[in-house]
This record gives sequence, structure tokens and C-alpha cells, in this order.
Amino acid sequence: MSNNIILVGMPASGKTTIGNLLSDKLTGYTFVDTDSLIEKTQGMSVSDIFKKYSEDYFRKLEYETIQMVCSGGANKIVSVGGGAFENPNNRVTLLKFGKVFYLKSDLDILYYRVSKDTSRPLLQNENPKQILKNLLEKREENYKKAHYTVDTSNLDSDEIIRFILNAANS
Ligand code: S3P
Repeated sequence: MSNNIILVGMPASGKTTIGNLLSDKLTGYTFVDTDSLIEKTQGMSVSDIFKKYSEDYFRKLEYETIQMVCSGGANKIVSVGGGAFENPNNRVTLLKFGKVFYLKSDLDILYYRVSKDTSRPLLQNENPKQILKNLLEKREENYKKAHYTVDTSNLDSDEIIRFILNAANS
């Protein structure tokens, strides 16, 4: 397996933050956040893609973007949107492309982080906590197919980075 590092997990689980911190530590690595890449290539936010087109349309873009990113070589840190690992084709691609880390967080922590954020279309609803809970329960089974689960609830970012770097080097 190559030395690529892939981060999966629920919205607000820290994938982008940890991806950026990892890329500061790992010289020669490039960090790719697939949602940011989609926003750049489409010239609009994920939220607007959902509104203007549909979730299905976004999922197609997400699939194509993951295929494209994972056709590249080594030295990559990739973070994907919270729903990406639900698609079996994405799972196969990502699990082959590198070591996949599931950043696991408690529902309360996730909710606290997303509660003031309007950029996540799936949570723009009367009861975002319930939506988050349902998504977490539904997705956990697939998230656990990652090579590693990092329970981030009681870890600070340095500890999370240390865990990932140790596992990536093993
Ligand atoms: C989604 C999570 C978002 C983004 C899209 C759908 C999801 O990414 O891909 O809004 O299905 O959970 P984050 O996990 O970075 O919020």
C-alpha cells in the first residue's frame, strides 16, 4: 500500500483541520479536501450545489472527484465529505489508495461544532441534532471499515496527529 493518508468521518469530526495539520508536518505531502476541490471546479459552494441541483448530483461529483484524486500517486493526504464513505465504490477506491482513518467523535461534540454553522446542507433542518444522530447511527458501520478508528473525543489535535503518524509509519 502507498503512503497516502485518508481521513473519513462525520461532518465536523475535524477532517479538514487534521488534514491541514498533517500536511504541515509531512514535508512533500499534498493535502486534498475533496469538498473544497468540488467547490473550486464547480465555482460554487457545496450548499449551493445541493440547492441548485440535488444531493444525487453532488454525490456524482463527489464520486468522480474521488476517482480523479485517487488516480494520482503517493504523498497525499485526502479528506472526504461525511457521506463519501457510504458509497461502496468510494470505499473500495479509498481503502486501496492508502491508509484510511475514521475520526470518530461523540454526537454532542459534533452537534456543538455544527450548531452555529449554516454551510452544511444536510443539517439545515428543524432538528439538526436528530439528523446528525440518525446519520451517525446509519454511517458508523461503514466508517468502521476504515483501517483505523481514532476516537478523538478525549484527544487534542497533537495526540490525533501522533496516532495517525505512528499508524501511517507502521
Ligand atoms: C456531507 C458532508 C459535507 C459535504 C456535504 C455532505 C454529508 O462534508 O460533503 O454537505 O453527507 O455528511 P463535511 O463532512 O466536511 O461537512
